[in-house]
Amino acid sequence: MNTLAQDFQAGQINEATDRALENTMLSPRFYTTDFKEMDRMSIGNSRVQWDQLMQEFANDPNNAHFQRPADMVKDYSDLPEGLYQEFLDFLISSITSEFSGCVLYAEIKKKISNPDLKDLFGYMARDESRHAGFINQWLKDFGIGVDLGFLARTKKYTFFKPKFILYATYLSEKIGYARYIKIFRQVEKHPEFRFHPIFLWFEKWCNDEFRHGEAFALLMRSNPELLKGTNRLWIRFFLLAVFATMYVRDHARVEFHEALGITPTQYDKEVLQLTSDITKQVFPFTLNLSDSRMWEGFAKLKDFSDRIEEQKLLPGVLPVVKRIYLGLRAGITFFGLYLLPVVSNELPADVRLQPVW
Ligand SMILES: [Fe+2]
Ligand SMILES: [Fe+2]
Repeated sequence: MNTLAQDFQAGQINEATDRALENTMLSPRFYTTDFKEMDRMSIGNSRVQWDQLMQEFANDPNNAHFQRPADMVKDYSDLPEGLYQEFLDFLISSITSEFSGCVLYAEIKKKISNPDLKDLFGYMARDESRHAGFINQWLKDFGIGVDLGFLARTKKYTFFKPKFILYATYLSEKIGYARYIKIFRQVEKHPEFRFHPIFLWFEKWCNDEFRHGEAFALLMRSNPELLKGTNRLWIRFFLLAVFATMYVRDHARVEFHEALGITPTQYDKEVLQLTSDITKQVFPFTLNLSDSRMWEGFAKLKDFSDRIEEQKLLPGVLPVVKRIYLGLRAGITFFGLYLLPVVSNELPADVRLQPVW
């Protein structure tokens, strides 16, 4: 067993919970919103499609999926140290995102009375709680399960207006689908790269995320003012922020991707392209991922992020000044990317998509 896992089993501070509590620009956040305004959101004239989607949620196709075979006792923490750390980072950031969804959806369900949305958020909280619990089972094998109750009580919550919750969670659900399915397809084609069994669960798992995204897509299409006027500027911002964050985070996990037989850049190009294609169901434009300046900008952001991290390790005032300077330059780079022309998109008459990738 890895020494880190032994340390934690010996009862020292639970670093997994500690890492999940981190609040950096890149770490997954916990959100809260204006519940009254959320309660007023209507499904408009999408009744038929909505009911159909709710029926899919009620059928609960993944009800029995998140169970581990009883004989799953092998110790998978025996990985090279660098890979082990990056895999842990992957699991902890995934469980934080899953649990963040669970807490937000459960809270919305509790605080609203609109029956359509109450059903939806109840189903989605059910799914996300399963997902987080499942990842935690594997983390506990390493002796470092995340204390989810403690996390929910202690983590800082970011307030987002309901429309921002829709843009952000829609994108995180669809990107979550794309991330899980791309990893699954890779280990399906190359079983020799499957260094941990959790990847086997990703195929059906990602269908839950896809369905969650479908609900947000329907809600946005039912409230078309969310996709017009100045809201287009916000959509552009969220697309770029979510994509850039994923790029920078994934590029900090070189050994993890190498073990899966893929480079972070190749993986991100595939995941972002797929996510971008899916978002054509709801957003009136996509970022132009064929523009090489976009990828050069992402690489610059990653470089600034590394240099800021280096400065954080140094004592004194000068590194603080340097961090501010690097932060500003990163902001300018981000703004430059924001100004790159987007590709406009005619919305399809039927919003619904199926997870066929
Ligand atoms: Fe999930
Ligand atoms: Fe989800």
